[in-house]
Amino acid sequence: MATKEQAKSKDGAQAEGKAKADGAAAPDGKSSADGALSITDSRTGESYEVEIHDGTIRTMDLRQIKVSEDDFGMMGYDPAFLNTASCRSAITYIDGDAGILQHRGIPIEQLAEQSSYLELAYLLVFGELPTQPQLERWTYDVTHHTFVHEDIKKMNEGYRHDAHPMGMLLASVGALSTFYPQAKDTEDHEERYMAAIRLIAKVPTLAAFAYRHSLGLPYVYPDNELDYSANFLQMLFKMENSFEPDPRLAKALDVLFILHADHEQNCSTNAVRAVGSSDVDPYSAVAAGVAALYGPLHGGANEAVLRMLREIESVDNIPAFLEAVKKREQKLMGFGHRVYKNYDPRARIIKKHVDEVLEVTGENPLLEIATELEKRALDDDFFIERKLYPNVDFYSGLIYEAMRIPTDMFTVIFAIPRTSGWIAQWLEMKDDPEQKIARPRQVYTGKRDQDYVAIAEREGPEKITGPPARRPKLLRRGA
Ligand code: CMC
Repeated sequence: MATKEQAKSKDGAQAEGKAKADGAAAPDGKSSADGALSITDSRTGESYEVEIHDGTIRTMDLRQIKVSEDDFGMMGYDPAFLNTASCRSAITYIDGDAGILQHRGIPIEQLAEQSSYLELAYLLVFGELPTQPQLERWTYDVTHHTFVHEDIKKMNEGYRHDAHPMGMLLASVGALSTFYPQAKDTEDHEERYMAAIRLIAKVPTLAAFAYRHSLGLPYVYPDNELDYSANFLQMLFKMENSFEPDPRLAKALDVLFILHADHEQNCSTNAVRAVGSSDVDPYSAVAAGVAALYGPLHGGANEAVLRMLREIESVDNIPAFLEAVKKREQKLMGFGHRVYKNYDPRARIIKKHVDEVLEVTGENPLLEIATELEKRALDDDFFIERKLYPNVDFYSGLIYEAMRIPTDMFTVIFAIPRTSGWIAQWLEMKDDPEQKIARPRQVYTGKRDQDYVAIAEREGPEKITGPPARRPKLLRRGA
């Protein structure tokens, strides 16, 4: 693990010892390396051997590569984590080239076909499919924690009538930490279990409250006689006692929940792990995940797809839209993925369910635009060369829209099932002896050793360069 020359030196011995300990800690029990990477540093002519485990090297092993004794040592530079594994995980497996997604080893196609969202949530959290009594206990626990403190309603009343429900969800998930301060004891396994149950149970209620607030409608409380997705639909749509969730729509929503539950180290999961690594309580860590999911490049994409389809307006406008995408004036939302360089398997499953849902709800003209847009993009060299295929968000918005769920709520609905993935990943991180507080390094590119200049002696334009702090033309939304 050290330079051949340094192998007996103190630093080298430490690096070697660490690598061996790492090997011993591998969950598959392998203590020996799969091979080694030989590196020659052209600056010094020194050669190094770096062990390979599971197709990776430890970037800490690069630290021994130095040009001088006082050199900090080499680091890896990987903006946006394009090629860096930040953890070892046994929850979700993706083969992006082959379009494979498995949870705890079980293909997503089988889960979507045969499982239920709550069963999958159990699988993610505990690592095994539940037995019948385990599933009953889990379902009972989740179902009996769906109510939220009345103060959450008061908190919601403070928002403007047109507040985005995702902003409201973000705040209310964070607020849960104030109702359950005991969750701060993250080493207590009972508290962890309760946080998992409470989050999975309450996020649909918080989501539905945000929706009802945006319509100025009274909140509907959970109905614990209904299953998870049917209960969510009744909290959204019930007026007096008149709403009975259509079982076909409840089933379609449950499948969408299954498809969105976890997706290994994506932006929001990484946020949950990074924030959770500070040992904050799980409600605050999951709130970080909600914030990351809000962005249009992540969970916000399903919302953006619908806006894009409406803007395209008719099939005749598709060629012009695709030209604009190729000129980089537009982005084809719902296409492309950091990991999948093939058809996203979730998109394939959703596509099958679109027709079933439309049978219940009636035709949607946007489906024709989406189908034609997909066909033409998949036929176009720009998308072929870049391996851009539909992702999970391309068709999910159409199902939500058919269910009469407003566009602003799409990302909120994504957050409901993703909560179980976030919790499972948080729990895995807590039990991983190799994890510490997440703290990346940087390559500093700024000035060094500048002298402070007194204000009277500074030169520069009279006005601040850059955008004005306040833009008066925008509609003011508050004080
Ligand atoms: N439309 C047009 N061009 C695209 C798109 C797109 N949707 N996605 C990627 N490209 C181009 C990109 O411009 C680049 O071209 P070039 O090499 O000529 O510069 C090339 O494809 C590679 O793209 P990238 O930006 O390096 O890929 P990335 O891995 O950094 O980004 C992505 C992945 C999902 C952010 C991106 O594909 C994207 O913005 N897609 C649209 C938003 C979207 O649908 N997001 C949902 C993702 S799935 C849900 C989830 O898991 O969150």
